[in-house]
Amino acid sequence: MTDPVRWGILGTGGINDRFLANARDATSARFVAVGSRSADRARAFAARHDVPRAHGSYDGLLDDPDVEVVYICLPNGLHHEWTMRALDAGKHVLCEKPYSRHPADVIEAFDAAERAGLLLMEGFMWRHTPGARRFVELLPEIGELRHVRATFSFVLDDPSDIRLRADLEGGSLMDVGCYCVSGTRLTAGDEPVAVFGEQLVGPSGVDVRFTGVLRFAGGLTATFASGFESDHATLEAIGSRGSLLLRDPWTGRARSLVLDGREVAISPADPYVLEVENLSAAVRGTGRPLLGREDAFGQARVIAALYESAASGVPVSLEP
Ligand SMILES: NC(=O)c1ccc[n+]([C@@H]2O[C@H](COP(=O)([O-])OP(=O)(O)OC[C@H]3O[C@@H](n4cnc5c(N)ncnc54)[C@H](OP(=O)(O)O)[C@@H]3O)[C@@H](O)[C@H]2O)c1
Repeated sequence: MTDPVRWGILGTGGINDRFLANARDATSARFVAVGSRSADRARAFAARHDVPRAHGSYDGLLDDPDVEVVYICLPNGLHHEWTMRALDAGKHVLCEKPYSRHPADVIEAFDAAERAGLLLMEGFMWRHTPGARRFVELLPEIGELRHVRATFSFVLDDPSDIRLRADLEGGSLMDVGCYCVSGTRLTAGDEPVAVFGEQLVGPSGVDVRFTGVLRFAGGLTATFASGFESDHATLEAIGSRGSLLLRDPWTGRARSLVLDGREVAISPADPYVLEVENLSAAVRGTGRPLLGREDAFGQARVIAALYESAASGVPVSLEP
């Protein structure tokens, strides 16, 4: 058996309650350190999550020679900067979704990782779930794909939440719509050739509702709706011979898919454990990261084009 990979956590945010709940028990990983802007918060986090070392600065965590992988769970607007710093410090990186809305950031980060012989993965944990895998496996059953529909929204009523901060690159497309973009790209098995976006901007200056249309080569279209004002989460494919629906696709909680009205069982799984196991295996050279440069670039490119379209009111072409 190989040594568990030693992980450090950059930031003490809410996601860790879910991320660490079971990932702490992953056999291939050990969470050895946390870094916070505040020494008190780092210590409290370390005690709460049973993490051995607490650093009162992010640089402290990056300078910790025992840490091999850094999990970056900072607000969106800080992902790229701290990924670059972590890579520069010789660490592999799992960065929370969305990596960035700027395709150039993705290129710069993966170039740096490759130059240094390090791994970088965007934290779209849903892609690691049995539900996502089974969804793709069952697609041929519905014939030729005609349309894809995705939703992800929840009610956000805390005005101080980072998701409502324009300066930290909040917004509903960045927070939840990005899953719909990921789901529609995965289902289409392709990159869109054009997108159209509509947004409702809230009082804090970020989109609280975002609706998008993605057009793929050959005429396939996908639509999605995301936002901070209602609770909904689905991924549906409509084909020439039937349809396939995954409810609650983004969390790993789904226990079944609906193929033409018939329930098909899937085993629920903790997506964070699968993600941690996947990257840890890759670090030890016994596997490959599920998500790499191509996927992160595709995500950033589509998100950037959707925001551009929403701002201009016209569709944006993504054809070369
Ligand atoms: N994959 C998933 O399931 C999932 C779920 C939720 C969130 N996320 C992603 O995880 C990231 C963090 O989300 P979260 O819900 O954990 O956010 P959060 O609870 O607000 O935590 C963000 C953390 O970032 C640090 N931080 C650094 N600069 C900050 C600033 N200017 N303002 C606020 N916090 C700052 C803070 O840690 P210190 O104060 O300790 O430095 C804070 O605890 C986001 O990118 C989000 O998209 C992913």
